[in-house]
Amino acid sequence: MYTHLKTESRGQVALLTISAPQSLNALNSTILGEMNDYLDHFDASLHRCLVITGEGAKSFVAGADISEMATLDAAAGEAFGRLGASVFRKVETLACPVIAAVNGYALGGGCELALACDIRICSDNARFGQPEVGLGIIPGFSGTVRLARAVGMGMAKQLIFTGKPIRSDEALRIGLVNAVVPQAELLDRALELAAQIAAQAPLAVQAAKKCINSGWDLDADEAIAFENRAFGRCFATEDQKQGMRAFLEKQKYEFQGK
Ligand code: COA
Repeated sequence: MYTHLKTESRGQVALLTISAPQSLNALNSTILGEMNDYLDHFDASLHRCLVITGEGAKSFVAGADISEMATLDAAAGEAFGRLGASVFRKVETLACPVIAAVNGYALGGGCELALACDIRICSDNARFGQPEVGLGIIPGFSGTVRLARAVGMGMAKQLIFTGKPIRSDEALRIGLVNAVVPQAELLDRALELAAQIAAQAPLAVQAAKKCINSGWDLDADEAIAFENRAFGRCFATEDQKQGMRAFLEKQKYEFQGK
């Protein structure tokens, strides 16, 4: 049981809700510790996709907890950044896909958490931003790394250097989010997308995620060789055999993750 996380199963989809509404779901070290524990125990053979959202109608995550950071010294600041960054790296490298359902403010650590997810869907009232320089700090949960990769260096620098948040339509325009939907539909739309992913061969989806993530950091020849090996391994799975057999025999097959 967690104090600030609500965890649910919706069939083969896991739903994680960050719940600290009195601070607009700002991330303190307790919440980060709980997320760390949740991710360490996540079983990708039980759940084929994870959806992360925030409690309430106003905020996904309004950043790292400013009241906790206010009195940190350099060493403690670095340790806090390392904690957040390592939790978000676990999100990014979770075996199955992770969808951020961004239901309002995604500022600072909230924007960085969304960036660590594979796919971002937001409500029309969402606001994205990296306001850290207005507090005398920089994005510390890997935002300087992932934002530039997501939206390009020029736009990332503008967002980080000005601290000015953007609205959902601008987030869509610059490719920060995959889709903008009415707030009342957000969770259903995210779960629908998650269910579409969960209906595919899970080991193949996991392999594709690994190839895309790893390929980003490799040179083209190494990335292609990495994909070649992963492609080959797919043919050692039962789902490949049954999936192709079912196609050829015009039948339906429910993937088993084997
Ligand atoms: N850390 C700690 N507390 C936070 C917080 C954060 N990142 N973001 C919001 N809160 C708290 C507020 O202090 C306030 O607490 P209080 O009720 O005890 O005063 C509560 O959440 C509600 O926020 P409030 O500012 O009153 O709501 P608002 O609608 O006027 O403004 C925001 C919403 C998100 C624009 C504003 O809260 C904000 O700018 N938050 C900080 C965002 C930020 O800089 N994040 C990056 C941190 S590195």
